[in-house]
Amino acid sequence: MDHLLEIKDLSVVFHIFGADVQAVRGISLQLNKGETLAIVGESGSGKSVTSKAVMGLIPNPPGEIATGEVLFEGKDLVKYSKKQMQKVRGKDISMIFQDPMTALNPTMKIGKQIMEGLIKHQSLSKHDAKNRAIELLQLVGIPNPEKRVDEYPHQFSGGMRQRVVIAIALACNPKILIADEPTTALDVTIQAQILDLMRGLQEKTGTAIILITHDLGVVANLAQRVAVMYGGKIVETGTLDEIFYNPKHPYTWGLLSSMPKLHAKTDKLLAIPGTPPDLSNPPKGCPFAPRCPHAMKVCTEHMPAYTELSATQKAACWLLDERAPKVDPPATIGVGGES
Ligand SMILES: Nc1ncnc2c1ncn2[C@@H]1O[C@H](COP(=O)(O)OP(=O)(O)OP(=O)(O)O)[C@@H](O)[C@H]1O
Ligand code: SF4
Ligand SMILES: [Mg+2]
Repeated sequence: MDHLLEIKDLSVVFHIFGADVQAVRGISLQLNKGETLAIVGESGSGKSVTSKAVMGLIPNPPGEIATGEVLFEGKDLVKYSKKQMQKVRGKDISMIFQDPMTALNPTMKIGKQIMEGLIKHQSLSKHDAKNRAIELLQLVGIPNPEKRVDEYPHQFSGGMRQRVVIAIALACNPKILIADEPTTALDVTIQAQILDLMRGLQEKTGTAIILITHDLGVVANLAQRVAVMYGGKIVETGTLDEIFYNPKHPYTWGLLSSMPKLHAKTDKLLAIPGTPPDLSNPPKGCPFAPRCPHAMKVCTEHMPAYTELSATQKAACWLLDERAPKVDPPATIGVGGES
């Protein structure tokens, strides 16, 4: 078993108000030991639902994993009981959410919150857990940790709280850390500090990271591989360089065009016109077709299969069919169009 985590054909459906919202539609992904995989895509594309499925946190009802497997070290987590999943979450896979305040208990000293998992899952004594909590606070860059370990969340700034959340997530030396928009609630300077921290910690601990974000600047800073989601599907995956310098899917082009830093030729931020598909009635063809400037008749009728572009890159787009007209990526992303 090469991959630390392998998601195979995962579909998640929410049954709400008599409709079936197909939030994630048959995605497959792999995560290797120690790497950072970014999942990008605009709001509603299924990023958080994917990560919740990995964590066993899809609320049922109304949600349900309709198909697929989530293989962690070869074992299918989808088949795990609630109790087994609790163990996995305490030990092997942890998660950082967007808003550091909701992740912390406001009435409990932060030291105690870090110690909880250590006592429960690593059977540390209270004394050892407290020492480890202080060590972890130091590791995530909280000054004066011996004193701050006895303070409450409201005594910390937003950035410091997110550091505490990261300390909690790392307390049990997880093999995988899932960070769902870990910096969006923070201001720009603090964002950069938290990203630096995560990068440094990964080098130290070797934890594999799934980084969920809609910010390609964050991706460029942290990830080695990227999966681009749209309408509950992965439309393109590749290494960071492949996605940034040789992207093949028009939606990836759109995302890159909307990223200000990559604008070699213009400083205008280009939003992708239109809205994402209604996942309670997903299109039978390519989900991006209504917004795609290159859509052809076949696009609305049939879902394109993946084209393997290299050992590490693939994309699902009819333009990659040999019968399709040759289309170059837009100049706004400032990359070459040759394959
Ligand atoms: N608990 C839920 N009940 C019903 N529908 C849900 C639930 N959670 C997610 N969904 C639906 O699943 C789809 C995907 O949502 P998801 O939260 O994964 O998007 P996302 O890519 O994380 O977006 P964002 O960038 O806004 O966080 C959306 O259509 C959403 O409405
Ligand atoms: S399959 Fe067609 S509609 Fe979809 S991204 Fe490719 S060209 Fe555009
Ligand atoms: Mg989300």
